[in-house]
Order: sequence, then structure tokens, then C-alpha cells
Amino acid sequence: MQFRVESLDQHYGSAQVLRGVTFDIAPGECLSVLGRNGAGKTTLLKCIAGVLRPSQGAIMMNDVDITSWAPHRRSRAGLAYVPQGREIFSELTVGENIEAAARAHGSLRDGTIDEIVALFPVLREMWRRSGGALSGGQQQQLAIARALVTKPQLLLLDEPTEGIQPNLVEAIRLVIEGLKTRISVLLVEQYLDFAMSISDSYVILARGAIVDSGRGDAMSRDALSRHISI
Ligand SMILES: Nc1ncnc2c1ncn2[C@@H]1O[C@H](COP(=O)(O)OP(=O)(O)OP(=O)(O)O)[C@@H](O)[C@H]1O
Ligand SMILES: [Mg+2]
Repeated sequence: MQFRVESLDQHYGSAQVLRGVTFDIAPGECLSVLGRNGAGKTTLLKCIAGVLRPSQGAIMMNDVDITSWAPHRRSRAGLAYVPQGREIFSELTVGENIEAAARAHGSLRDGTIDEIVALFPVLREMWRRSGGALSGGQQQQLAIARALVTKPQLLLLDEPTEGIQPNLVEAIRLVIEGLKTRISVLLVEQYLDFAMSISDSYVILARGAIVDSGRGDAMSRDALSRHISI
């Protein structure tokens, strides 16, 4: 999917939180959005997912303006959102979490679930456990798997490594790396090494505005550390 955000503004009351945010994501590429706490990263993802309606600007999927679309319509059109803090259903089992998402997208019985769960073997082991019984890292894997069974063309990930033990960070990194080229990924991340290892391009947000951007291979710790606390 060719994806574009154009001149996006967002306000909470009188406070402006996004200022003229513009970027493109080419099909099959991973864009990282970097920035300090409070820079506006989550607000940006909520606008893209349709949870918030931006005060100004446009969101385009394959040249179609989706700015006024409800979240479920965006989701059917190929957008999947993994919120910060995961937001899985902790009362439902792992299997129920995944099957509910697949059912809503007509991919319950077409082999998609097996394909996605194969990426996260721990989810098969924990299939009948309640979501709330999983560790933070396992919940993050569940949240990503639940997004992937909807067969997205663009995956939005909000700080997938936050509070996760290193071996699971690597497992998640490998999955994203394996997905890239087939789907596009928008990764919000404060863990620079993680972002640098999988990004084709990046933007840095500071107080809601893009203050730096470039191709992934041009990301350097020195340049980034001016804008981001490491
Ligand atoms: N619902 C809200 N009402 C009012 N202000 C909000 C609301 N949500 C966020 N903000 C403010 O908007 C700004 C951007 O917040 P946002 O959550 O988008 O930042 P972030 O870059 O995702 O930060 P973090 O790295 O801590 O997740 C912050 O100043 C925050 O306090
Ligand atoms: Mg955030």
C-alpha cells in the first residue's frame, strides 16, 4: 500500500499536539517515528487508525482520502493498529483473542491463523490461557498476532518493545523483518537500535512537528540523540 499523511494537525482542547505532519510510506517499507515522551507519536497513530479525528490535514491510502473514515472501515481496507500498552482482551483466552479478530475479517478458516501463530510459537502453547495470564512480552506478541490475522497492508505498531525482555524483543524484531516487503509498517519506537535495524526511513517528532527525516541507512546515533534522550 502507498500511504501518505499530509499536513496533519491535532489539538487537545487549545493545546496543539501535531503540527503539519507530512510523510509517505512506500509499499513494503518500514517507517520509524521517533521522539521523546509526549512528542505526539501516539496521537499520530490514533489519527491514522481513526480513533481520533485530526483537526486539519489528510490521510491517504493508495491515493484514497480516508480522513473521515471510521476505524472499522480503515481496518477492512487494510490498516491494523497495535496500541501502546497492547489492549488485548485479558478475560478472553489467547485463542479467542485471535479468532475474534480473524472472524471479523473473514480469515477464520483460510489458514491465516496457522500461518500467523507459526510466527509466535508461544501463543500456540498458551492457546487456552487467558490473555491476562501472559507476560507483558507474550501479550505484545498476542497483540501483534491479532493484528496480523486481519491480513493488513499497513501495520501500525506503538512502542512494541516497551517493557519487554530482550529475547522477546529479538523475536518481535525478526517477525517485523520477515513481514516487511510484503506489507508496510509504521513503527513508533524509542529503542533506537531496534528501530535502526529494521527501518527503511524515519521521521523524528519534537513537540508535534517533524524536525528531521531520512532514509534508514542514514540514521545515526549522533544525529538522533540531539532530538531523543537515549
Ligand atoms: N487525551 C488527551 N488529552 C489531553 N492531552 C493529551 C491527551 N493525550 C495526550 N495528550 C498530550 O499530548 C501530547 C502528546 O501525547 P502523546 O501520547 O501523543 O505522546 P507520545 O509521543 O506518544 O508519548 P510517549 O512516548 O510517552 O508515549 C502530550 O503532551 C500529552 O500530555
Ligand atoms: Mg505514546
